[in-house]
Amino acid sequence: MNQNQEKQNAALAALDYIQYECILGVGSGSTVTSLIQNLKKVKHNIKALVSSSEDTTDKLKHAGFVVDELSNVGSPDLYIDGADEVTRNFYMTKGGGGALTREKILVAASRKIICIVDSSKIVDVLGKYPLPIEVIPMAKSYISREIIRLGGQPELRHNFVTDNGNFILDVHNLTIVDPPQLEKQINNIAGVVTNGIFAIKPADVVLIGQSNGVLTLENR
Ligand code: 5RP
Repeated sequence: MNQNQEKQNAALAALDYIQYECILGVGSGSTVTSLIQNLKKVKHNIKALVSSSEDTTDKLKHAGFVVDELSNVGSPDLYIDGADEVTRNFYMTKGGGGALTREKILVAASRKIICIVDSSKIVDVLGKYPLPIEVIPMAKSYISREIIRLGGQPELRHNFVTDNGNFILDVHNLTIVDPPQLEKQINNIAGVVTNGIFAIKPADVVLIGQSNGVLTLENR
């Protein structure tokens, strides 16, 4: 498997969804970097762009795009992002790069969500990849204890502060059998800003890069 080729094929397939006058939300990570490298091809179809991280904003600006504030553009028509894991029923975990909160805001605000991944990201059950939780710094120990009560093993991400000035706990050893329920439960812990389960609002389309093309899953 050539993972980079698969990421690129997924990213290229996403370009077809960027139609005339599109207000586009752009995710974060290496698969999205591949999207940004090819975004000029559909520049004529982009009315406005909003970004999910400082890193993505820098890359978009470097590629010659103007990046707008979400508050100024209304609802994005489309949000395109990668994932750390995704199931065939369109649930995702995200936040490996630490941008989960802004990513979740853009998912919530957007009309259509497209997930672009290489084939290694497809799983039957979420949780093997450590689940990121963005936490208010003063709550990190309290939240860690609550997560242990849920059966997870939290680990503070070292030398890392999010774009919002918070910390990340990466939670190991979770088997996420009911993603929407666990997403709600973790979000209810005081001091949690966001967790990396994207199930209450899952993807509409998953584009899975293959070595010679792409497999499209549509959530109907
Ligand atoms: C960043 C993310 C990314 O989408 C996720 O980590 C996947 O990244 P990559 O495309 O590099 O595999 O959620 O916060």
